[in-house]
Amino acid sequence: MSPEGAAAADFLHEVAPASTRPVLRRSRTFEAGGHLMRPRQKTGYFTPMYGLINKAIEDLVRSRFGDDAWHSIRTRAGLPDQPFMPLSPYDDQSTYGLVAAASAELGAPMEAVLEQFGTFWTEYTAVGAYGDLLNSVGSTLPEFLGNLDLMHARLKSSFPELSPPSFRVTDETPTSLVLHYHSERPGLAPLVVGMLRGLGNRFGVSMSIEIARSEHPVPHDIFHVSWRASR
Ligand code: HEM
Repeated sequence: MSPEGAAAADFLHEVAPASTRPVLRRSRTFEAGGHLMRPRQKTGYFTPMYGLINKAIEDLVRSRFGDDAWHSIRTRAGLPDQPFMPLSPYDDQSTYGLVAAASAELGAPMEAVLEQFGTFWTEYTAVGAYGDLLNSVGSTLPEFLGNLDLMHARLKSSFPELSPPSFRVTDETPTSLVLHYHSERPGLAPLVVGMLRGLGNRFGVSMSIEIARSEHPVPHDIFHVSWRASR
């Protein structure tokens, strides 16, 4: 792992309680072979993440900061100069390493990189192969957020080893709700903030988001979201 990848892992383990650290819990698990993972035996710590995510990070960096910035970030993250395969699983340390390397190269905190990527992700997946799926998730923000688990479940046909997050909506009013976010992966709450902002753009609302941590019934992040029409 690159020094940035190691630092990112340390940082993320500091911000995440031990109980939220990712564990491999599938019948078919993966072992690192370079950054691409091959089906093999359980290695115990990090959870594979599909290459679509790394590919989207690459596309974000190339489109906003140029090819040179991407090459610096990829090199700093210690990843080979090879295309990411969207439907293949990668060690998720490669993703954390890319976020850390982007943070160092672009001079932005890791939380800001994650947040920007989250907003980009909602635009990136809205076009092309996943556009129809996103359109079917909901026609209002609360409906969409309430169906996120169903949406990720539908993706299992393309991504059979998917370890998606889980979301639950509570305390809904006409202009607010509480979103509960559970994940095997630590430190990704800023990613969710960015995704929520992107969804706000999608539904034409401006949002206020407050993050808190809940320990009940299991440790997870909660987002107090309120909105008003922006167009
Ligand atoms: C059709 C659009 C979408 C696709 C194709 C998609 C697919 C994926 C994939 C492949 C992963 C990596 C997980 C893995 O490989 O095991 C992922 C993770 C994630 N997705 Fe989605 N997703 C979509 C939309 C969304 C939306 C709208 C949200 C909004 C909140 C969301 C929230 C997340 C989060 C937070 C993660 C990080 C992993 C984690 O928390 O453990 N996704 N998604």
